[in-house]
Order: sequence, then structure tokens, then C-alpha cells
Amino acid sequence: MDKSNGLRVILFPLPLQGCINPMIQLAKILHSRGFSITVIHTRFNAPKASSHPLFTFLQIQDGLSETETSTHDVTLLLTLLNRSCESPFRECLTKLLQSADSETGEEKHRITCLIDESGWIFTQPIAKSLNLPRLALSTYKLSFFRSHFVLPQLRSEMYLPLQDSEQDDDPVEEFPPLRKKDLLQILDKETEILDSYMKMILETTKASSGLINISSCEELDQDSLIQAREDFQVPIFTIGPSHSYFPGSSSSLVTVDDTSIPWLDKQEDKSVIYVSFGSIATIGEAEFMEIAWGLRNSNQPFLWVVRVDSVVHGTERIDAIPKKFIEQLHEKGKIVNWAPQQEVLKHRAIGGFLTHNGWNSTVESVFEGVPMICLPFEWDQLLNARFVSDVWMVGLHLEGRIERHVIEGVIRRLLSETEGKAIRERMELLKEKVGRSVKPKGSSYRSLQYLIDYISSF
Ligand code: UDX
Repeated sequence: MDKSNGLRVILFPLPLQGCINPMIQLAKILHSRGFSITVIHTRFNAPKASSHPLFTFLQIQDGLSETETSTHDVTLLLTLLNRSCESPFRECLTKLLQSADSETGEEKHRITCLIDESGWIFTQPIAKSLNLPRLALSTYKLSFFRSHFVLPQLRSEMYLPLQDSEQDDDPVEEFPPLRKKDLLQILDKETEILDSYMKMILETTKASSGLINISSCEELDQDSLIQAREDFQVPIFTIGPSHSYFPGSSSSLVTVDDTSIPWLDKQEDKSVIYVSFGSIATIGEAEFMEIAWGLRNSNQPFLWVVRVDSVVHGTERIDAIPKKFIEQLHEKGKIVNWAPQQEVLKHRAIGGFLTHNGWNSTVESVFEGVPMICLPFEWDQLLNARFVSDVWMVGLHLEGRIERHVIEGVIRRLLSETEGKAIRERMELLKEKVGRSVKPKGSSYRSLQYLIDYISSF
């Protein structure tokens, strides 16, 4: 760490893997610039404090039962967390500020601001009442974060359902580059709770002292940056890709299978398809089988992350799949519960990434120049996938068809045909552009400096 600057920042991540990784990366960045770090976190999905001995971790009670935290309904989970964490958080932050006031000598650090996930909707009024500036952090692509303005409006205008399926592929003028069928899938969520939650996120972000877009950079968000600045009327800092500052140091909540890299070492260059659908998405048994057959029939080696809870219908992981079939799968590929994804994507053996297009996964893939096969499941993933396939043209879209012959065909197109070669060339250019953003004088590098100056000035 640079010499301590006598300032302390309080961080408060949402307890989801896709949010903890970027927040801990931000902690490392700020710490390396001289800030002391305190992370307030819930009991549920607590980050591993022992992996980050230089930070102070404070746990608050989230009051949720095991049944509540094991839901696959993310909106419900976030609603419950927002309801039950407000008082414990207020108490914890108040105590922290009081004890900082009573510190003396070398120990003394001024608490300069709170940085928490935009999905916490009670933190802005609490911070305001305590006279503490608050910055919101978003792990979405900025173009999607702006959807908080657009989606409720589209819903209220009764944009959907589509009158006729021929309109499926038409663009959504108000929300490019989405197609109407994507919008249909995004809006296919419980409406009232979600709309009022999004409205709160919007209001609390507008009232904040700034928005940090940590997993993205200007080069990936050119389409929305100017508009977002107008919409939110607060400074926006695009400082990503966050993982580029401290490569290979993810903050996995799950134990990483470290046999993945030695296995990749034995494979040929650019031959392996890496398959992962992030930390939340689930698939049914039938879909599992189609993907398995597609991979097997493609005749390419594959590394597939199948989380313990990712195959549903009451089954435990792949236990419901006949053992013989799994053995056959292992002849050509490897299945793991959790991989060191950033290291995997960096490996010379990886030729493509079959992904759900969570924003972290998408950016990690771009950063390593790995072309994608897009299989978005929900929410922002639909938009991210369109950027990959239709705007940057660095991947192929499965268009939701989880069928063995489609998967086999798309792998072949990506790895062996001229179409794939053109995609790899475009990906190489995008990788260079994004890589430059975090280097001295790059857009993210400058934005980070601006952020450091800004929070030091509070
Ligand atoms: C969630 C949402 O689902 C996603 O739509 C949103 O963009 C971010 O929050 P998640 O589904 O977990 O995230 O996906 P993603 O954003 O891709 O984040 C997953 C993270 O877990 C990545 O940083 C990835 O490197 C890591 N990971 C995943 C591993 O380290 N190992 C694995 O085996 C799988």
C-alpha cells in the first residue's frame, strides 16, 4: 500500500458473488492508494475476512432464515435483505462514526465516505442523516443501469405482449440494441415489487454523491455514458475492468477447484470451450443433457462449471444424471463445481466461452480476448449478450435454443470456420482497446484518479 493518507472508506457490498468480487476489488484499489478500508457485510454470504487481512470486516445481522437465503428469486432476496438490514446497518455505521471521532494519534482516520451497492436502498437516507457522503456502486453495464428509467415506462405503456411473433427480432427503439423478444423476457418478471425497487434505486442514486461503474470502462459504455450523466446528474466514474488491477485475486465464496488449470495445461492452444453460467442461474435436467450432448458431439474438449445448486428439479448437482454418462463426458471434458474463472479465461488453451453473459463474465472474457457463445438467462444478461453478438460482434448468440445440434453447430462455427476467425480478430481489437483503458493515460486510469481526488476532498 502507498503511505496511509489518514482517510477511511466504508464499503457495504450486496451479498451476491457478482457484487462481492467487484467491491473487494475496489477495496484493494483504494487501499493501494492509501485509504484504510472497513467492510460492513451481512452474515449471509459473508466475504472471507481471512483472505483480506489488511481490511477491517464488521458483520451485521441480516435476520434471514436458511430457507429465505436459498431462494432463487433474486428480487425477493434483495427485498428481504433491504427490509431486515436497515436497523443493524444504521447502528453499525453510527457506532463506527462515533468511535472514529474518539480515535487519537496514529490510530486516527477520518471516515471520508460510504460506498455501497446501488441495490441497497436504505443507505442514502442513513448516510445523509449522519452527514456522510455516499457513492453508489453498480456492477451492471451502464447501458443496463439506465434501464431503471426505461423499463418501468415501457411496462406502463403496455409495450408488450407482442401482437405477432414476426416482430420478435425487431429492435426496441427506446432500448437499443435489445430486440423485442429480449424485452419480453426481461419484463417477464414480477412487476410491482420490481418497479418500485427500481424506482428507489434510481432516486437514491440521484441523491448520492456519485456513481462508480466498476466493471466497465468508457470503451464498453460509449453508447450510454453521456445520457447517463444527464439522467443521474451526479459524477460517474467508469474505472473498470476492476479485476485488471489485481489479476487472479477473486473473492470466491465457494471453494475453487484447483485441478482446472493443470487439466488445461494438457490441452491444445485455443481448443477448449469453457462453460459457466455464473453464480445464480439454474438449468433443468433436460437442458443439462442437451448442453452435455452438444459439447460431447462437438468433439472439442470442454471445462464446465456445474455448481452444486445449478441443476434444479430437486436434484443435487449432477447426481441425477446417470454415472455412465458422466464418465463418458469426462473422456472429453472436465466438470467442476467452481473454477478460477479469471485464470481459466487467461489460459492459452481456451478457445471460446459458453456464457450466460453476466456482466462480470462478459467483461472478463473481453479482457482476455475470448470469443463468446451467448446463452443469456435473464435481466441484464439479455442486453449484454446483444452487445457481444450484434454490436461488438465478438460472439455468437444461441437465441435461447438449448438444443444439442445447435450447440454443436455453434461451437464448430466459432472454432473452425471463417466466421469464427473474423470474430476472433474483432475480439482481439476490442481486447486491446479495453486493456489500454486501465493503463496510464487510459480512460479508466484517469477516471480512477478523478475518483480518488474526489473522495479525498470530502
Ligand atoms: C449477477 C447477475 O446474474 C448478472 O446478470 C449481473 O450482471 C451481475 O450479477 P452472476 O450471475 O454471478 O452475477 O454472473 P457474473 O456477473 O458473470 O459474475 C460471476 C463471477 O463469478 C465472475 O466474476 C466470475 O469470474 C466468477 N466465477 C464464476 C468464478 O470465479 N468461478 C466460476 O466457476 C464461475
